Amino acid sequence: MTILITGGAGYIGSHCCVTFLQAGHDVVVVDNLINSRAQSLKRVEDITGCKLFFEEADIRDQDALERILAKYDCTAVIHFAGLKAVGESVSQPLDYYDCNVVGTHRLLKAMEATGVHQLIFSSSATVYGDPQYLPLTENHPTGPVNPYGRTKLMVEEMLTDVAASDPKWRFGILRYFNPVGAHASGAIGENPLGVPNNLMPFITQVADGRRDKLSVFGDDYDTRDGTGVRDYIHVVDLVEGHLKAYEALQARSGNDNCFTVNLGTGTGYSVLEMVRAFERASNKTVPLVIAPRREGDVAECYADTKKAEETLDWRAQRDLTAMCHDTWNWVCKNPRGYDD
Ligand code: NAD
Ligand code: UFG
Repeated sequence: MTILITGGAGYIGSHCCVTFLQAGHDVVVVDNLINSRAQSLKRVEDITGCKLFFEEADIRDQDALERILAKYDCTAVIHFAGLKAVGESVSQPLDYYDCNVVGTHRLLKAMEATGVHQLIFSSSATVYGDPQYLPLTENHPTGPVNPYGRTKLMVEEMLTDVAASDPKWRFGILRYFNPVGAHASGAIGENPLGVPNNLMPFITQVADGRRDKLSVFGDDYDTRDGTGVRDYIHVVDLVEGHLKAYEALQARSGNDNCFTVNLGTGTGYSVLEMVRAFERASNKTVPLVIAPRREGDVAECYADTKKAEETLDWRAQRDLTAMCHDTWNWVCKNPRGYDD
């Protein structure tokens, strides 16, 4: 009775390992370490006092996946492994289709071959594209505007088709809004390689002096202060949503075997509100300049959370102060990420 967590050495995956181990599950991680370090898994063991199993492998290696699923007698898969940088997906689309779409296809084939039929998938609010109304409900039309988003939507559609083909399959599709924060211990957190694309890691690198200033991408949006508004969600709340999704899957049967839910808080914060909140939590100043809009950005994006409450009996608990405080705690304890 082991759960396979693909991409478990990464940012969200490592937090998910903690939550599942603490809930009493056995966990095996498959990760090729393309965007993570195995040290994160050692930290997971330190936090939980539990042993987990690690297999360094690529999800596109179907033989390896079949061997691992059988070796550990896996009963379900939480599937985080994938590439996630929007800009890189535009310049290297084939890598994204290969890793995210072909990789998931091979994973499903390996599951089929070994009789494992439950999977929870990391999708993204990016599948909605430009919001036609807010908050975003799960039946909002989809229309991703970059290759990364299209890979997520393709996988969602593949899962829906497979679920419809045979009721033995059970899938939970989770559309994340903007995960931030870190485990309260400060032992695991987000460890971006190179220049961060996302707001929170960039703010932290300005606060700790690694970068001079934050560029705020646009202050002329139709929002309360002109800067972009997003639904930031604490990563521990996010992974607790996965545990609830796993439990909900156990209760499913027949044709009711695939659900799609948003994981967000339902509240949006602007870039400037995030900066101010982070300054308060860290007691640091974050110098900023207003820069041109970033191509492809929407003005505002936040979740309707009703379906998650009804389907999973889950809602986010941690507020913006906790998100900023826990991020700063992780950075202060690990100034060079997992490199130290
Ligand atoms: P991450 O890069 O920290 O974690 C992904 C992990 O997958 C890494 O450890 C990486 O080494 C591994 N991996 C990548 N390709 C692999 C492959 N072919 N075989 C095996 N392992 C592979 O990213 P994250 O932020 O933890 O995101 C996890 C998932 O959530 C991703 O699928 C991402 O698209 C999705 N997601 C993330 C966000 C976000 O803002 N962080 C938002 C929405 C959705
Ligand atoms: N921003 C800045 N300066 C920066 C970085 C970001 O002003 O240096 C702004 C952006 O313009 C946006 C907000 O901060 O208004 C949030 O930007 P992020 O890059 O942190 O997040 P996005 O909402 O653009 O995208 C993220 C992930 C996507 C995912 C999406 C889901 O990067 O992969 O959330 O909603 F699909």
